[in-house]
Amino acid sequence: MNKAISVGQDIFWVGTNDLETHLFESLWSLPRGVAYNAYVILGEKTAAIDTVKSSQFDEYLEKVRTALSGRQLDYLVVNHMEPDHSGVITQLREAYPDVKIIGNAKTLPLLKGYYGIDSGVVQVADGETLDIGGHVLSFHAIPMVHWPESMVTYDAATKTLFSNDAFGGYGIHEGGLFDDEKSRVRWESEMLRYYATIVARFSASVQAALKKLGGLAIEKIYPSHGTLFRSDIAQVIELYDRWSKQETESGAVVVFGSMYGHTRQMAEEVTRGLSEGGVKTVCLHDASRSNLSYILSDAWRYRGLVILSCTYNMMLFPTVAAFCEKFQNSMPKKRSLGIAGSYSWSSGALPALRKFADEIKLDRVGPEVEVLTAPNAQNLEQCHLLGKNMAKAVSN
Ligand code: FEO
Repeated sequence: MNKAISVGQDIFWVGTNDLETHLFESLWSLPRGVAYNAYVILGEKTAAIDTVKSSQFDEYLEKVRTALSGRQLDYLVVNHMEPDHSGVITQLREAYPDVKIIGNAKTLPLLKGYYGIDSGVVQVADGETLDIGGHVLSFHAIPMVHWPESMVTYDAATKTLFSNDAFGGYGIHEGGLFDDEKSRVRWESEMLRYYATIVARFSASVQAALKKLGGLAIEKIYPSHGTLFRSDIAQVIELYDRWSKQETESGAVVVFGSMYGHTRQMAEEVTRGLSEGGVKTVCLHDASRSNLSYILSDAWRYRGLVILSCTYNMMLFPTVAAFCEKFQNSMPKKRSLGIAGSYSWSSGALPALRKFADEIKLDRVGPEVEVLTAPNAQNLEQCHLLGKNMAKAVSN
């Protein structure tokens, strides 16, 4: 992976694998790393599409140089200004001082703000084209997928969509770059986790983008992270369509926060009820142990969600609160929610979960269970019933 890799007629992947960053955005776990995909297109003129995170510059530049084979770089297209893609623009311009930087009206203030760059810049309008000789590139705004300036670049000659964060996923490239060179289970799970953590909040914008780009003849989708798609484009677009429409699968997620095991006991009883109710996919997450990204990913995929929390200083347990806050921020719909809490000397968790449930407005499944100290047999029966009722809700 140390040199530019040909990924189409005159198109090279010049991205990098990052195995050093532990948490993407200092939040999301990266047990399999993350790739920053960047590209170079050779026409009569040459163009780079996006760059990489700042720590990856040396490797990126080496690949750009290999792809260009001694030619100059004429254009840098900035599809997105988030620093995981724009991080080495300054250094790239030092290496190629005559490069023209292409962005839209919303790109330019960010370019100036982050890197102090306001010269050598070309502003393009939505739908505008750039003929580099042999390839005509067109630029299409997809605002809020993931930032206001986000855009995609389309190469009509090869029917390739450089899709920016859209269709992106976590995980480095382990040899192959393309979907037909990897196991689907492996790329799809990391693509969903990326969606749930980064893109989900903007699902309505994803729907707008899919409609807008629907008129383009697309044979390849090359995102800024993760797998490149060339074998079954319809299938991958359908995945994105489903996730952004919030179409869920039959199954349930049980998230709990527990200090001494009593709330965990309640959660396990809920899972027994779900299982006895016929739900085969039950994901049990200890909010203190699973990285939030995995809980969010499962919660985005499956229809049922049960949240259980002990009380901590008269409030929701902090790791459960973190999940609730981020999940609510994603504006979930079309799901069923059950809640339960426990306390030893002052109630707090269940009232907080009730408030959360009122605000998030998902279909409620009961009973709500509240336990004083350790759950007794009757409490556990209630938890079991909650699981069974959720099983009915998610099987419909
Ligand atoms: Fe991969 Fe929104 O940056």
